[in-house]
Amino acid sequence: MKHLISPSVLSADFANLILDIDMINQSSADWFHVDIMDGVFVPNISIGFPIIEAIKRHAKKPLDVHLMIVNPDLYIQRFAEAGANILTVHYETCNHLHRTLQSIKNENMKAGVVLNPHSPIHLLEDIITECDVVLLMSVNPGFGGQKFIKNTYSKIETLKNLIIRKNASTLIEVDGGVDIHNARKLIDCGADVLVAGNAVFKAKNPTEMIQQLKNC
Ligand code: DX5
Ligand code: ZN
Repeated sequence: MKHLISPSVLSADFANLILDIDMINQSSADWFHVDIMDGVFVPNISIGFPIIEAIKRHAKKPLDVHLMIVNPDLYIQRFAEAGANILTVHYETCNHLHRTLQSIKNENMKAGVVLNPHSPIHLLEDIITECDVVLLMSVNPGFGGQKFIKNTYSKIETLKNLIIRKNASTLIEVDGGVDIHNARKLIDCGADVLVAGNAVFKAKNPTEMIQQLKNC
């Protein structure tokens, strides 16, 4: 499978969001990555339901919604109603992860688990077959534009081995500090989906940057 690109809307221009949504619609991007931060799990607050619904009204590609919130179970149905197609929850926020993933699937969304940089892959040993996606954080979550953590390369390889060993069909997604310089190596290690915020939206030509990330 050719790898997927999921531009992070967090780095878009929120005063002109429709322009950036249309740019993504017309580009070779595959998903819209939408970051939800609650100011509790991470030291930042991003966007809520009205903005997600507004994005959904114009987006012609699936919404890949990354929850950085405590108690995600409380809002699963609301995110489904707002238009999320893929919903990822942090391992670090879920006491009953198996139940949470089932609840997401019951709302007809793809279910994913996110690992912070300090959380090892072996935590997923008994849940990997339930994960449509595993999102590996390659920065500490909370902000766009941070420096890529190099330990992520070996984590991708370890995760890939786990997926193969368990005969799972999980996609590996990488988020944080992804750019044209590390994209090829991430794919070679086993990544299936690359999230990119600053690399896309701070580029002179965002459409072309998406194409380059897609072609790499
Ligand atoms: C960070 C977010 C990322 C962020 C990525 O907490 O989860 O999705 O927007 O931005 P860049 O690509 O600029 O690191
Ligand atoms: Zn994210």
